[in-house]
Amino acid sequence: MLLQLDSVSKTYKDAHSTVHAVEDVSLQISEGEFVAVQGPSGCGKSTLLLTAGGLLKPDAGSVKVNDQDPYAMTPDARAEFRAQSIGFVFQQFHLVPYLSVLENVMAPGMAAKSSISEIRERALHLTERFGLVDRRHHVPAKLSSGERQRAAMARALLNQPKLLLADEPTGNLDHQNAETVLNDLSEFAANNGAVLLVTHDERAVAHAQRGIILQDGKIATTSIGSGAE
Ligand SMILES: Nc1ncnc2c1ncn2[C@@H]1O[C@H](COP(=O)(O)OP(=O)(O)OP(=O)(O)O)[C@@H](O)[C@H]1O
Ligand SMILES: [Mg+2]
Repeated sequence: MLLQLDSVSKTYKDAHSTVHAVEDVSLQISEGEFVAVQGPSGCGKSTLLLTAGGLLKPDAGSVKVNDQDPYAMTPDARAEFRAQSIGFVFQQFHLVPYLSVLENVMAPGMAAKSSISEIRERALHLTERFGLVDRRHHVPAKLSSGERQRAAMARALLNQPKLLLADEPTGNLDHQNAETVLNDLSEFAANNGAVLLVTHDERAVAHAQRGIILQDGKIATTSIGSGAE
């Protein structure tokens, strides 16, 4: 199993409010699966993804990625494990503002301690794949939203992770670029990876084999889609 969530809950608390963002969610994704998560704004989709990605410790329940619990590791070991095993496309991209596109795409390779020539080779290939050849030396502020989104996608794939977690990766893309990204996600899953995708985009849902609807932090519905070719 590449991702196993057991009764995961996450609550945000401050002096004024308590938000039960994710409540008692259990989910399993195995090699080769492409799963889409949908649900209204604020229902906990991004929180669920961050929790699954080793970036936000749940208050209760357990997270296993490739049979390992990232939250049981030291912060350094967790960072290295995440770099090697998990690709993450953030809803707000989180590209490093002072690095070029190429450097941003190469960055996870450093964390995974791969050789620099191999990192560069893969980054050149991925920037080409996502139509960013002319933008390699631009900083993110000089890119369009769709270009930033594609750079974030290239970065997530750099270390050839097992699990890809993507938060609305087609939200800013035109038809052709969305198709490129979705076909890559399908291909990634087909090559024994696993994809958990958050989306409002019906084109993206059509590529998934399984759909989950979150409502108020809980799984409301699961379905078997027809998208798998
Ligand atoms: N860091 C935080 N501190 C406090 N509350 C938060 C925090 N992050 C999210 N929330 C709240 O938790 C709930 C779930 O947020 P989340 O970002 O997971 O929703 P979402 O389903 O991804 O929404 P969207 O579709 O708008 O991206 C929301 O009510 C949100 O206001
Ligand atoms: Mg979100």
